[in-house]
Amino acid sequence: MITTPEDNEFDVVVIGGGPGGYATALYGAAAGLHVAVVEHDKVGGTCLHRGCVPAKEFLETATVMRTVANAKEFGVQAGQPTVDFATSQGRKQKVVDQLFKGLAGLMKGRGIVTLQGTGTLLPGRRVRVDGPDGTTEVSGRNVVLATGSAPRTIPNFAVDGRFVLTSDEVLALSTLPSSVAVIGGGAIGCEFASMFSDLGSQVTVLEALPTILPGCDTDVVSVVARSFRKRGIAVHTGVAVTGHTPNGTGTTVVFGEGESVTVDAVVVSVGRRPLTDGLLAEGTGVTVDQRGFVVVDEYQRTTADGVWAVGDVVDTPQLAHVGFAEGILVVKTILGEPALPVDYSRVPWCIYCHPEVAFAGLTEAQATAAGLDVIVKKDPFGGNSRARIVGETDGLVKVIAERGPDGRAGRILGVHMVGPWVTEQLGQGYLAVNWEATPDEVAQFVQPHPTLSEGFGETVLALTGRGLHVG
Ligand code: NAI
Repeated sequence: MITTPEDNEFDVVVIGGGPGGYATALYGAAAGLHVAVVEHDKVGGTCLHRGCVPAKEFLETATVMRTVANAKEFGVQAGQPTVDFATSQGRKQKVVDQLFKGLAGLMKGRGIVTLQGTGTLLPGRRVRVDGPDGTTEVSGRNVVLATGSAPRTIPNFAVDGRFVLTSDEVLALSTLPSSVAVIGGGAIGCEFASMFSDLGSQVTVLEALPTILPGCDTDVVSVVARSFRKRGIAVHTGVAVTGHTPNGTGTTVVFGEGESVTVDAVVVSVGRRPLTDGLLAEGTGVTVDQRGFVVVDEYQRTTADGVWAVGDVVDTPQLAHVGFAEGILVVKTILGEPALPVDYSRVPWCIYCHPEVAFAGLTEAQATAAGLDVIVKKDPFGGNSRARIVGETDGLVKVIAERGPDGRAGRILGVHMVGPWVTEQLGQGYLAVNWEATPDEVAQFVQPHPTLSEGFGETVLALTGRGLHVG
């Protein structure tokens, strides 16, 4: 029997409580809209429970290991560190649980109604909620689809939670495998490869394309590849992975021209697929493309009136902060306020492997391929005082500007960083790219010294034609 809750008419009904969904709900409620969120698990979604947050927490454990291992360089005698992974798991879970509690409380405090269950969009902007206490129906003047994504898998690598894992299983491990093959050298693959290696596992990365971190600037990729090599991570690029044969305690993965590696566990990180299975009843008018993504226009409108979609379920960069931006855009558009579509070519990217990667805007190769005449400057962290002080000198800042009619560097097109804490340093570069600032404008600003972040200022200063430390 379908029941109708007393409070069943909303300005916005959001299906899915991950970053895309909860950002829509929080921002909508902050603007005075009456909002419901349908969620069958816990609000926070992949990012909080099975993705960004737990992955970065484990990467921090890896950083602590590295720091303690290097302590003797500073004259601090701490001995050779070992990891008790059960304690690491416990800490990760505590961080996740605290953030979950905070988010749930924030949503409640803003008057957002959370409906526990699986949402299905019905025609006429009605939503059926199949929950533990039965089925209910609500309706919204607007419905926002925000059901997210799940790890993609590949043939011959059925996920069994023992030999073959995706990010979901890795983040729930109770013991560390002593050897791992990571299939796919993208963001997730490189973060896990880096983490496992720093925690003492032997790691092999198997990437189909000619390079790891495809999409990143080649100078940045070189730094990560060199660091991986130095730390004993075996990276095989341009290889097809054909299958694996379990043999009791491990499994043998076959790749390339008959090569193989025997490992305790295989991590499959070959991208994520949108989750639209069962989301749409007959006759909703919402179009889904061949790969399962919900089709939207630049304002996140689906092909059905009053139905919107945000986050990983649409074919835009699968980043939590892109989901936030899309949610805010939807709310502003619903309210009839002026709003700019998200410029996906200039969103910030942060990859938390060691060394970290952060960038916004065009790579040098992309700018050149677009026919732009560019001027490029690079500042290696090796010359940066703070990097020397913290003992993290691998990396660089690279700024790409368009050559102006006077032959000097004009509009800043791309800022690419690799090195210590660059995920926390991208802000200035992100603003410069998105403000279409020129080096002459940005170089006016004073950079604090000694900091890691002054590397960006130094690079920009050099682009004006005269640098301090950067030529
Ligand atoms: P991805 O698309 O970034 O990388 C997947 C990699 O797997 C690619 O390099 C691809 O060439 C390779 N690949 C595909 N099929 C393969 C095969 N059969 N054999 C070997 N290699 C194969 O996807 P990933 O890393 O799984 O991440 C999923 C999404 O989540 C991405 O959109 C990513 O940007 C996002 N993400 C972002 C993070 C960040 O910004 N810090 C962290 C984690 C995920």
